[in-house]
Amino acid sequence: MTNTTNPHRRRFIKTAGTAGLLAWSGLPGWLSAMEGMGHMPKLPARRASPNFRPDVEVDLICKPSAVSILPGQATRVMRYTATLVRGPADTVSEIPGSYLGPILRFQKGQKIRINLHNQLNEASITHWHGLHVPAEMDGHPLYAIDKGESFVYEFEMLNRASMNIYHPHPHNATARQVYMGLAGAILVNDSEEAKLDLPAGEYEVPIVIQDRMFDVSNQFQYVRHMHDRMMGFYGDRILVNGFANFRLDVASRVYRFRIMNGSTARIYKLAWDDNTPVTVIGTDGGLLEHPVEKPYVMLAPGERLDVWADFSGRSVGSQLVMRSRSFSGALPRMAEHMMGGMHGSPLTMGSDYPIFSVKVGRQVSDSPKLPKFLSSIRRYGLNDTANPGKPVPIGISEGPMRMLLNGRPYAYNDVLPSERIPVDSVQLMEIFHAHGGGHQADESAGHRMGGMGMMGGGMRHGGMGMRHGSEQQANGTGSRMGMGGMGGMGMMMSMAHPIHFHGQYFQIFERSGGSGAGYASVKDGFVDNGWKDTVLVMPGERLKLIKPFEDFKGLFMFHCHNLEHEDMGMMREFSVE
Ligand code: C2O
Ligand code: CU
Ligand code: CU
Repeated sequence: MTNTTNPHRRRFIKTAGTAGLLAWSGLPGWLSAMEGMGHMPKLPARRASPNFRPDVEVDLICKPSAVSILPGQATRVMRYTATLVRGPADTVSEIPGSYLGPILRFQKGQKIRINLHNQLNEASITHWHGLHVPAEMDGHPLYAIDKGESFVYEFEMLNRASMNIYHPHPHNATARQVYMGLAGAILVNDSEEAKLDLPAGEYEVPIVIQDRMFDVSNQFQYVRHMHDRMMGFYGDRILVNGFANFRLDVASRVYRFRIMNGSTARIYKLAWDDNTPVTVIGTDGGLLEHPVEKPYVMLAPGERLDVWADFSGRSVGSQLVMRSRSFSGALPRMAEHMMGGMHGSPLTMGSDYPIFSVKVGRQVSDSPKLPKFLSSIRRYGLNDTANPGKPVPIGISEGPMRMLLNGRPYAYNDVLPSERIPVDSVQLMEIFHAHGGGHQADESAGHRMGGMGMMGGGMRHGGMGMRHGSEQQANGTGSRMGMGGMGGMGMMMSMAHPIHFHGQYFQIFERSGGSGAGYASVKDGFVDNGWKDTVLVMPGERLKLIKPFEDFKGLFMFHCHNLEHEDMGMMREFSVE
């Protein structure tokens, strides 16, 4: 791939307008520096085990396809299709006309077999985002299969009722395959949730929010110049469940919206256009204890929200729009300005735009009541953790060429001492900005700090890494990259990262460090009191999480769910042993 003739890149340079950005856009070899990090061994594809007796069995195919999204030419996509081999008839339900994979419904306790058949012209493997499964069943890139091969997953559903995601996870190609259409929702039910009698059937609606960019012949564009990878790729159209201009016709009653951010990088600030508060009943890991009302909710890539949407009392013909409201601080200020210029897009992340609309089409007389109590959540405290005084460090490093965790790019089985976790322990973890963090909302502060550059930023927080016994963190990015000439870039780069952990849900124990106008524009939209597997970390923020590592040994990934960042190497593994 050469850049010299790429019109986007030319425009990028024209609009960049600062010496700093020109410096890193012009660096030669940036692509090769980010591609092909580390070697990934190839294992023989797993076959069915004769001793496993599945309650449910599904054939899942990933393949190239074409669907009609915009008027005119069909769009080439990659998609999942599924057929039920055995088990309850409602296990697989298609979303007619969508490129999204069918919704998979499972019950807690079911023994599940999924036969993944790869019919793509490239390697892939499917990951069950949110599910608590053995390492071998988790869709680690190690298990990627080539075209024509099949991988058999067998596991028991241990999750509580929740909405989870299935999507590809091959080495260095996750973002592109997801972008091309490979993703679907998994809805898990259990007896605790079933007792609540929440809206079901046509009244339970999955809402998968994605953004895409189309070229003149309706094909997905996935531009791969440096800026798109550093900041993440942002489309210029919002799709819901794979449809443009999504509108839902509803009855005047309560609906349950199972909302998922399936974008690769875009963060949403969801709010009703008439300022009705958003009633949240669940997060990534299922129901909250009690419903909460929010003026708006933040939803980063990989996160889910369970929303109680009450249209009772609304008259036939009335409309309500869910919008993404304006916010700032999630991208470096300069990138926020550039997005519009680069893509000519009105959808700059953080601007105000519609996501989907709801139209009341018919009047009904009864509607369920919002339960006061939803589910019981065992709340972990420091005393439940194996390491109350010594959190497992998750250091975010931001640099012009690299987005890293714990100072190192992803490499298979490259486990730091701090990334070794005893099985069946509960760990306190701390996510912080290890290099160039401390986002500055006001520009003068940015300049003041700018002189310190990457190295300064790294050393400032380096001591923290050392205390946590992760020596490599302190000398990670700075020395490796020799960023001497790029003083201040760390500060300019600081952005929000949705950090995701495989294996098992966690709880958010404490959030601190957020400040400034940007932070003020998002902070009331976090739902932090439920089970989570992905958490948005804003610039300057420091988060303490408590996470159990139960049942399964092996390598479990954690990474930024800005999938462009993930593929750049902003991913590590815990070795649970
Ligand atoms: Cu949803 Cu490792 O990812
Ligand atoms: Cu995951
Ligand atoms: Cu990131």
